[in-house]
Amino acid sequence: MGAQCGVAHKMTHEEDMVTERSQPVVRGQKSRFEAKIDQAETIRSRSTTPDFQQILSRRMSRRGVLKAGAAAGAVVVTGPVLRLGLPTAGAANASAVSAVAATGVHFAPIAPQPPDLATIVVPEGYGWAPLLKWGDPIRSSGPAFDPLNQSVAAQAQQVGYNCDYIGWHQVSGRGELYRGLLWVNHEYTNPELMFAGYEEDNPTREQIDIQLEAMGGTIVEVIRNDDGRLVVDPYGARNRRITATTEIRVSGPAAGHEWLKTAADPWGYTVSGMLNNCAGGRTPWGTVLTCEENFQGYFGGLSRMNPEDPRADVHDRYGIEEDLSGYGFELAHPRFDVSSEPNEPFRFGWVVEIDPFDPDSVPVKRTALGRFRHEGATFGYSPSGRVVFYSGDDERFEYIYKYVSTNAYDPMLRGMGQDVLDNGTLYVARFNDDGSGDWLPLVYGENGLDESNGFSSQGDVLVKTRLAADVLGATRMDRPEDMQQNPVSHKVYAAMTNNSNRKADDIDAANPRSENRWGHVIELSEQDDDSAAIAFTWDIFLICGDPADESTYFAGAPKDQVSPIACPDNVNFDTAGNLWISTDGQPSALELADALHCVPTEGAQRGQVSQFLAVVGGAECASFEFSSDDRHLVVSIQHPGEGSDAIPGDTTDAYPADLEHSAWPDGGLFYRPTVIQVWKNNGGSINSLD
Ligand code: FEO
Ligand code: CA
Ligand code: CA
Ligand code: CA
Repeated sequence: MGAQCGVAHKMTHEEDMVTERSQPVVRGQKSRFEAKIDQAETIRSRSTTPDFQQILSRRMSRRGVLKAGAAAGAVVVTGPVLRLGLPTAGAANASAVSAVAATGVHFAPIAPQPPDLATIVVPEGYGWAPLLKWGDPIRSSGPAFDPLNQSVAAQAQQVGYNCDYIGWHQVSGRGELYRGLLWVNHEYTNPELMFAGYEEDNPTREQIDIQLEAMGGTIVEVIRNDDGRLVVDPYGARNRRITATTEIRVSGPAAGHEWLKTAADPWGYTVSGMLNNCAGGRTPWGTVLTCEENFQGYFGGLSRMNPEDPRADVHDRYGIEEDLSGYGFELAHPRFDVSSEPNEPFRFGWVVEIDPFDPDSVPVKRTALGRFRHEGATFGYSPSGRVVFYSGDDERFEYIYKYVSTNAYDPMLRGMGQDVLDNGTLYVARFNDDGSGDWLPLVYGENGLDESNGFSSQGDVLVKTRLAADVLGATRMDRPEDMQQNPVSHKVYAAMTNNSNRKADDIDAANPRSENRWGHVIELSEQDDDSAAIAFTWDIFLICGDPADESTYFAGAPKDQVSPIACPDNVNFDTAGNLWISTDGQPSALELADALHCVPTEGAQRGQVSQFLAVVGGAECASFEFSSDDRHLVVSIQHPGEGSDAIPGDTTDAYPADLEHSAWPDGGLFYRPTVIQVWKNNGGSINSLD
């Protein structure tokens, strides 16, 4: 199937685009959409507001430069490459950056660290400090962190728990006006570390409600101070919390679906909150996509549902708990018990769009992007102007997806006004053993996605995305985590974090190792350099582990020059196109602290994994983000202290008098998940030559 069925379902307008793609744009010659971006830039350049279109425009001219450079054998990038999806400070600021971004590793890698570190480790010549800690008030008037006297009202005005995805949005970029906007996900809670005297089997109503306010996300404005450090602006007009109780609208083909209707929302268009937001991405129009991942863990009671109810099978496929959920929220709120509210889980597992620039905007669950355990949703570029978002479904043997909009987006529109996330096609990936691949469309009425397999509408296909992907014969992957497009080469990198359940008789070329405890990274090239394509080629980029393990592979780099790496989770690029990978699971896979690694994808150092940072005991190195000038790196240190014997707030035994085991980062009674900032001491770009 592949190419033919992909074309068959397309609508009239899209056929224009297919025609355009089938006659690829001559290199150096701009597509119609790229000309439109230029026009938008001309108009917007009269304004002093940050201008995303300038980035796209420069990227377009850069494409020509790169192709020419490649032909001449040049591989070193000699200027700040502008990162797609990132509103920028503009050319004036870019030229003010002291250092030049370049392919390669330009720091002295740190040694692998033991898993019980008491503090963050960075290379010589770098520093770090906390930026946002759980419980910090987000406004000047907000309640101070007081963990022994927590309340629902206080938590709703403070930074949430377990920070994950961070989206950097540049607001302005000149001198003292340097201002960024940070979106931060709060994936989940560790009540055993949050509350003194927490009883797992008997949480109080208040402890449950505090946790609901500790999830979701945080928006804060940050400024650069005289020392070149980021500080939160407590007066930032856009500072805001969105939680598991914030009203969220539902849009797209599954909005109003019969299974999205509940007692609280008989129309199926409004949901209370979002759950387990793990990774995410940014859109070219300045909004955030934040992704609901392990939502199933908040719902219990499946064993009490009528097994004849068709919804029970779907809940089972998505992993809803048979009895009491791990969090026990259903003890206080019946909506989390499927025997009492069987449709509530269908309202989670979506991608949520949020406009961080408009504090009054209502978040929207975009159902066209499918329902599964979304790790992230990251932008892929198409010369047609159609938008593409890549997303992994993080569970063993689940799939990789991408969404392609039907129409081009409008480069002049910012905020929530675009409808390109409601009208488009969701595809699932099939990796063929010969190195080719196909994007298989999840379209109602095609390829068996009809009544014969239990699907009655496009909304139905999306509510049951995983079951639809089963029908199409997609490739079952080793826990797909983050995906990201290289801003320079345009190749897409996908992290398979691990899959210890894969048996030797079940391996395939894209998941080539049985009992894959260390994970791998796949490198994917879209046909015609167009993210909207329905065919691709792929390679294995890394097979992770201890380099002494002969099953490992580092894109051909000599193994004596790479850092050990396991359980790749989040991936991102610096402006030169070097891949950075954070890990979640090195303590169990390698008996090493979780880490942030840099690995060039081009040039002489291709594949040379080099460790940049190590995190504290109990924590994973969750998401991270560079500022648009690469001078600031922000990193989510998630669940510090997890698995620790320490009892929060307990001053009666050796804890925390034994400072070695005091709670990071304050040394106080409570661990605090924290977004840290990292800088280069000389003020240059994080990975620069100077
Ligand atoms: Fe929340 Fe897939 O990591
Ligand atoms: Ca993750
Ligand atoms: Ca990423
Ligand atoms: Ca993970």
